[in-house]
Amino acid sequence: MCGIVGFVGRRNAAPVLLEGLRRLEYRGYDSAGLALLDGGAFTLVRRKGRVAALEDAARGKAGKVGIGHTRWATHGAPSERNAHPHIYGKFAVVHNGIIENYRALKKECEESGETFASDTDSEVIAHLLAKYDEGDFLDSVRHAVAGLRGSYALAILCEGRPDELIAARKGSPLIVGERDGEWYVASDIPALAGKGMKLCPLSDGEIAVLKRGGAAFFDIEGKRIEKEWAEYDTETSAPQLCGYPHFMRKEIDEIPASIAQTAAEFLKKPANQSLCEVLCHTEYVQIVACGTAYHSGLAAKCAIEALARIPAEACIASEYRYRDPVVSKSTLVVAVSQSGETADTLAAARLAKERGAYLIAVANVPHSSLTALADHVIPTAAGTEIGVAATKSYNAQLIALYLLALSLRAAKSGARDVSSSGLASQCERDGEDARLLETLRALPALCGEAIAASRKTKEWARRFCSAKSIYFIGRGCDHAAAVEGSLKLKEISYLPSEGYPAGELKHGTLALIGRDTPVVAVMTDRALAEKTMNSVHEAISRGADAYLVTSLSEYAERKEFAASILVPACERLFSPAVSVIPLQLLAYETALACGNDPDKPRNLAKSVTVE
Ligand code: F6R
Repeated sequence: MCGIVGFVGRRNAAPVLLEGLRRLEYRGYDSAGLALLDGGAFTLVRRKGRVAALEDAARGKAGKVGIGHTRWATHGAPSERNAHPHIYGKFAVVHNGIIENYRALKKECEESGETFASDTDSEVIAHLLAKYDEGDFLDSVRHAVAGLRGSYALAILCEGRPDELIAARKGSPLIVGERDGEWYVASDIPALAGKGMKLCPLSDGEIAVLKRGGAAFFDIEGKRIEKEWAEYDTETSAPQLCGYPHFMRKEIDEIPASIAQTAAEFLKKPANQSLCEVLCHTEYVQIVACGTAYHSGLAAKCAIEALARIPAEACIASEYRYRDPVVSKSTLVVAVSQSGETADTLAAARLAKERGAYLIAVANVPHSSLTALADHVIPTAAGTEIGVAATKSYNAQLIALYLLALSLRAAKSGARDVSSSGLASQCERDGEDARLLETLRALPALCGEAIAASRKTKEWARRFCSAKSIYFIGRGCDHAAAVEGSLKLKEISYLPSEGYPAGELKHGTLALIGRDTPVVAVMTDRALAEKTMNSVHEAISRGADAYLVTSLSEYAERKEFAASILVPACERLFSPAVSVIPLQLLAYETALACGNDPDKPRNLAKSVTVE
């Protein structure tokens, strides 16, 4: 989604801003722009389309202070006039988030004779800055943001102040960086890659004033606050393709390492007594998340209920707060998010906390709004994920949630030290728990084998790219993998697709099944296999070609399937981590066969920071 970069330094700002914007390209955007200050008036450059077009247009533009932005359209079409920065009077502003009361604010400005140059909600911020301008830049910002409802991350320049940038945040991430006496601001850490960069994330309601001579932080009342800085070697936050054609393909190959690292970090953490208490008293688990992360919740629900015998529910975060959810002190709410910045997931997590739940965050970005909000964080250690279609982060989420399921199981059986290292020793004592933990430890190797077994997906993709629509079916845990396989496929191939519980097909969707609608069955649970086969036969009888992803060798050779992929067998509750891999690769190969860029799907953004 939208990206922000700002710079105050001794060098020309444009190359720094452009480099930062390039590093944010993976997030998805449709236009880009920058504004520079070089003593006099602003230099404004904006372009619809790629950062490369902006780079050409910005060549030779001077200014040691600047702000840049990649925009993902929400209010107003993707166009040059709607691209940020927006300038009004003495102020230039870039904005991430949504201003919910912009219509009323814009009306007020128009009634007092001001005209607007764009269709965005963001432009109203520049008008408010001008309205409150009495010569003190910080005061103008404080008063302007006080009138905003919604979410914002802002970087602002003021004409006449050629060595100053102000940044402010509420509900949308923003990080200040410093290296060698030069100051940076960005919406995401990858934009600030480089050795020796010191970083300081802003919290909601905070304002940073960056000048050539130093940085100062204030609250919304204008009171000075002290912030902590941490040094990051952010070189590692700017992943390279390393010979792969696409990040998505590389990230699938990184799945074994991602899950091994996630499990290792979980198990080496020292025991946390308050978490242990919470797990011991948990009577109900709600997993709140969106998209792929929600699908990891569907798999985790099966594991938690089966292993810990605690009722669990996977909740779509964007629906959660509108259904007046039942939450009590014995409810454990687990918010799952790769980015930790998804607006819907954050809103659900906040509501759950307000209602008294203990909040665990399962997040891949360590310093995110979600990790700041949570009572306890289980990190996924997938590393930066560039492909918009989540792959390795999903598998890492599964492992984190399975370990949580084992912790809940240990808590239920009376263990007092049920987290991390405590879990490991508990599992070593108990035969069945030891077996489960061993199964989890074997998953990286099994995922590696599944990647190797998925070569055939290229051939499947050649047939799928001309299909009318594609259905994915499975029962139990296989259903969780099926819906994720379907989401991956539609995201990057743009082919219509649905994932269904296999038994549900005959209750309506079968009407759509025919010759040009391949059906992919996921089948890893021997106890449910014949039931799933019934649904497969129903589809075949209507003319569909059936494809199979299975760990059951006796089904892999069955003649009724047009093709099948045999993945290694593992404990049925953990099988989605393995069986999803051919489906991720199928989506990747189908996107290529359709002529699409799998890393940059149309209309989608990596981090969805608006409701
Ligand atoms: C799909 C995908 C999205 C995200 C969803 C939640 O490939 O990536 O469905 O899973 O937008 O994002 P996070 O995990 O950042 O909260």
